[in-house]
Amino acid sequence: MAFTPTEHQQELINRINALKKEKDAIVLCHNYQRPEVYEVADYIGDSLALCQEAAGINARLIVFSGVYFMAESAALLNPHSTVLVPDRQAGCALSDMITAKALHEWKKDYPDAAVVCYVNSTAAVKAESDICCTSRNAVDIARALPHKQLLFVPDKNLAAFVAKQLPEKEIIPWQGYCPIHERLSPEYLLKAKEMHPNAEIIAHPECTPEVQAVADHVVSTSGMMKVARESSATEFICTTECGMIQRLKKELPHKSFFTVCSVCFDMKKNTLEKILSSLENEEFVVEVPEEVRPGAQLAFDRMFDLMAATDDEDRARRARKSFGVSSE
Ligand code: 13P
Ligand code: SF4
Repeated sequence: MAFTPTEHQQELINRINALKKEKDAIVLCHNYQRPEVYEVADYIGDSLALCQEAAGINARLIVFSGVYFMAESAALLNPHSTVLVPDRQAGCALSDMITAKALHEWKKDYPDAAVVCYVNSTAAVKAESDICCTSRNAVDIARALPHKQLLFVPDKNLAAFVAKQLPEKEIIPWQGYCPIHERLSPEYLLKAKEMHPNAEIIAHPECTPEVQAVADHVVSTSGMMKVARESSATEFICTTECGMIQRLKKELPHKSFFTVCSVCFDMKKNTLEKILSSLENEEFVVEVPEEVRPGAQLAFDRMFDLMAATDDEDRARRARKSFGVSSE
C-alpha cells in the first residue's frame, strides 16, 4: 500500500521543500528512514550510494537523514558543503564498538595485515585503517587487496560473510556487531518461509552467519532493492531493519514483501519536524576532526580507487602503489 502523508505531514513536507530551494540545500536519506522522510529526500540509498552522492553534491547545505557516521562521511567527502544532522544523538551502536585507540593497539600484533574498516565507524577509526568498505563492496575490496591477512573492523558478521566468499584470505574480525541485526533469528525466517514457500529470503550481511546461511541473497540495503527488482520471484522475505520494507513496498508495489525485522531507534530519531528545524536554524553542523581528516580521506580514496580498478588499470595501479605494492 502506497504511503500517504497526513495533512500535518504534508504541510511539513511543503515547508521543507520550499526551504531547500531558498537555502540551496539537498536532503540525503538512508533506506531505513521513516516513510514520510522519504518524501523530502533528493536521494535515498545505502551507505555506498550516499557516500558517492555526497561527494558530487554542489549545494551550500546537505541535510543528512541517517546516523552520525554517515553524515560524518558526507562531510569528509564533500568539504565544500556544510553538512547538517537533524538529531545529533542519532548514532550507530555498531560504530561505537571500536575506538581508534583500541584499533591502534590491536593492529600492532599484525604487522603484515591490512586493516579494512566497515564504513559504520568513526572518522578516527577510519584514519587508523588502511581502507574503507561498505556492505555492498566489502567482498570486492577484500578480494582486490594485495594482502593475504586482513583485520576487519568493527563488524564480525560482515567479516564472516567476506571470509566465506574468500577462503584464500585470512580474515581476522573485531568482535563488534549491530545489535539490531544480531537479534534476528533463523528460526523466525524459516517459519516465515513455511508460510510463504515461494518467497526468496534476502538478508543484510550484518545478520549472523546462521541467518546468512538460510538466506537466498545476502546484500546491502540497496542490493535488496536490486535483487527484488531483477528477480523473477514475486514474493520476498526480507530480514534487516524494519524501515527497509516500506522502501521496498514503495518502489516495487507489484511485488509482495514479508519481513522478519527489528527497529533501529537511532535511524528513527530523524523526523520531518527535526529536518525542518535543522534547515531553519542550519544546525547541527557536522565537523570532522582536522587531525583525522587526511587519514580517513585516504581510506575512502583507496576504496574508490579499488572499486574503479576492475575497469580502469591506471586507478588499479595507483591503488596498489598506495599500499606499497607495484604491479609493474
Ligand atoms: P547499507 O550500507 O547496506 O545501507 O547498511 C548500512 C547500515 O547501517 C545497515 O545497518
Ligand atoms: Fe548502526 Fe545497526 Fe542502526 Fe545500521 S541498524 S545504523 S548498523 S545500529
